[in-house]
Amino acid sequence: MALNNRSEINVREYRDRDKAILSKVAFRAFMWPHDAVWAIWGLDSRDITFVAEINGVPVGAIELETFYFKDREHGYIYYIFVDPDYWGRGVGTALMNKAEEYFRSEGICDVWGTTWTKNYRMRRLFEKTGYKLISREELRKKYTRREYKTLLWNLYAGPGELIYWKRVC
Ligand SMILES: CC(C)(COP(=O)(O)OP(=O)(O)OC[C@H]1O[C@@H](n2cnc3c(N)ncnc32)[C@H](O)[C@@H]1OP(=O)(O)O)[C@@H](O)C(=O)NCCC(=O)NCCS
Repeated sequence: MALNNRSEINVREYRDRDKAILSKVAFRAFMWPHDAVWAIWGLDSRDITFVAEINGVPVGAIELETFYFKDREHGYIYYIFVDPDYWGRGVGTALMNKAEEYFRSEGICDVWGTTWTKNYRMRRLFEKTGYKLISREELRKKYTRREYKTLLWNLYAGPGELIYWKRVC
């Protein structure tokens, strides 16, 4: 499907019938099949998923979670993926903006995301949408050892994963 000037990106909530097409998109988008498998699992098992569609066809999704940490709720971007045919056209940005809008509407101001060092596209998307790269040393200084471990656990942040954070309200 060609993307022309009149094609508009529409972002809406996920519906069960999106699963088949988004499963195909996930296997095309992720370099590693296990990421696609987890992302497909996440479509209807996280707190909320938003879908980006172009001309009514789903081309990407963002899966969101919330967790309670310290004295308040935090947001987490579980998986985001876009059909490679549409990379670089603002679909990822539209999904990130929707996530931010959603968290803000829920009164959740701290939003987190993680990615691999070599996932340069995702790193650029985080940076472009205003997320700040936070080092583990910084987090370790800010929180007690137990809090630090709890936070990493909530972020599924294994060794080698970068942690991004944004205050959205
Ligand atoms: C990471 C990923 C989600 C980014 O999605 P995307 O749709 O390409 O993201 P965007 O188009 O919004 O932004 C990427 C680029 O497009 C550019 N762009 C944004 N809006 C644009 C528009 N309207 N027209 C043209 N280009 C645009 C951006 O400037 C950016 O380029 P730059 O930063 O090099 O200047 C996508 O590459 C992907 O699915 N990767 C595989 C899955 C993955 O690794 N997910 C992350 C881990 S969960």
